[in-house]
Amino acid sequence: MCGIIGYSGPLEAKNILLEGLSQLEYRGYDSAGIAYFDTASTVHVVKKTGKVARLKEVSMPHHSHCGIGHTRWATHGGVDDINAHPHRAGRVTLIHNGIIENYHSLTQEFSLEDRLVSQTDSEVAAWVLDSFYDGDPKSAIKQLVERLEGSYGFCVMFDDRPGEIYGIRSVSPLVAAYTHSGALIASDLTALIPYTRNYFVVPENHIVKLTGYKISLYHMDGSPAVPETLEVNWNMDAAMKNGFPHFMLKEIHEQPEALKNTILPRVVRGLPDFTDDQIPDDLFTACAQVHVVACGTAMHAGIVAKSLMEPALRIPVTVSIASEFRYEDPLIDEKTLVIIISQSGETIDTLAALRLAKSRGSKTLAIVNVKGSTIARESHHILYTHAGPEIAVASTKAYSVQLAALYMISCRMALVRGNFSRDQAVSFLTKLLDAIPAMEAMIAQKDVEKELVTHLIQQHDTFFMGRGLDYAFSLEGALKLKEISYIHAEAYAAGELKHGTIALVAPGVPVIAIATQEHVFSKTISNVREVKARGAFVILLTKEHKDIEDGLADIHIRIPDLDDRFTVFPIAVILQLIAYYASIGKNLDVDQPRNLAKSVTVE
Ligand code: AGP
Repeated sequence: MCGIIGYSGPLEAKNILLEGLSQLEYRGYDSAGIAYFDTASTVHVVKKTGKVARLKEVSMPHHSHCGIGHTRWATHGGVDDINAHPHRAGRVTLIHNGIIENYHSLTQEFSLEDRLVSQTDSEVAAWVLDSFYDGDPKSAIKQLVERLEGSYGFCVMFDDRPGEIYGIRSVSPLVAAYTHSGALIASDLTALIPYTRNYFVVPENHIVKLTGYKISLYHMDGSPAVPETLEVNWNMDAAMKNGFPHFMLKEIHEQPEALKNTILPRVVRGLPDFTDDQIPDDLFTACAQVHVVACGTAMHAGIVAKSLMEPALRIPVTVSIASEFRYEDPLIDEKTLVIIISQSGETIDTLAALRLAKSRGSKTLAIVNVKGSTIARESHHILYTHAGPEIAVASTKAYSVQLAALYMISCRMALVRGNFSRDQAVSFLTKLLDAIPAMEAMIAQKDVEKELVTHLIQQHDTFFMGRGLDYAFSLEGALKLKEISYIHAEAYAAGELKHGTIALVAPGVPVIAIATQEHVFSKTISNVREVKARGAFVILLTKEHKDIEDGLADIHIRIPDLDDRFTVFPIAVILQLIAYYASIGKNLDVDQPRNLAKSVTVE
């Protein structure tokens, strides 16, 4: 997805746009650009491939009080200056986050072939808008969106309307605020936070107009609308590195605090309590099955939850990849509780899955970290995690708090369905809280991982393996390593490795084995012997009291002696740190790895 910002007001617009783009860069960083009115009301466009820092080097001599800016994660067309946003088309200057699915047919219908200079769907939208523009921006925008298929968040300027910015969205996010510094619009809060604590989400299919002295919201028929004002629940510090070398390391360190902020407000007399979240117990007692839907790390949290919930609840818990689920004919109905997990609350496949679940009559409960996000607003029930902003593309604290939320849901469900006695529920929650100091201990000894990665970073392949919950944890470990160190990694059920893939285990190939589940410990150790016998470089993760024969593990990392169900929390820290230090060891961009973006708001 892309970063979008717009400003109109008394301050130097270029500076506000460039600073805002720096804050939004985690959303996509292939290229960046700004467009602004100079004091003679002429529009200037400056755009370049690469990061915002390169854009800041470009000379922009004009003063400006109104402009728009964009950081791009390429969907249509390569990464080059021409395909960078903003796009100029006649009297229109436009930036876009999303995908226009019918841009080919629009190109033909409006005979744009000879006018297009880029390969983007966004430029097509700009030309179509220009063709409708007759001096009335809202009318032209209305006609444009009636012709579009797909997702969009647009900010638009019209040459003959200096000082004015128009915004409209469908699926892709836009937030706006009128502040002491002027009017601002952006694709997320990180660009607004330096200026305000009050904002509103631009409602879908409404037109927002920014000028230097106010913001106006309109229905599509042009009648005035009233925005719903929200208050920001975190501060700018939370979105800064605060002395850490990278956001990812900062966010790894923030996990214990994030868990406390997510769990403790929901503990009443030792039991999980969702009263303040307005989540009724009959949501849990009435369902015959649970279906968890998410993407990436969030989906991995769901897989851990399945391994936790099914033994406790004795009902089917299914986990689906959102991009698959949304195109299937899932076996869900009004007796299904669909749990949607999304840190950003904007992942388009997960949003589509939510809408499908609602269309089938299922009750939906969203676990979301960003307040007021699209998924949060469209779900029947919301359980907000309180991790604060997660800026690093690689998800860390969001994973931990998603797990904490899922663990609390599992405990509440078991209690109200009679699977847990009150004492069992209190004991479960106590053990969940005991996982927090265990995470702190792993963070404190992080130099262990710093040393072991020297072997990893010389390799092309790494295997993770475990059984039961350990296998569920290993999926996330493999993703972390891949996405920030670019080392190919696969997670395997330990018993499955020998059914083919062990052919890839050769001398020196790293195998990260997780063996914290007592009931299958000896079996997992047997699998470790099998890979060791073939020369693997074994990194073994066990609880602290476990004795291992000499020579079995090249590196043995011990975690505190927790109840088997809660070892994911310290294990997650270890796997995150392994990935982090591997990326550092290869001198890569930890926070903004190649090809990725923080939230995938395009399909
Ligand atoms: C994982 O490190 C990535 N950040 C990615 O897999 C992410 O978890 C996934 O895109 C889902 O994002 P969401 O939680 O914002 O929906």
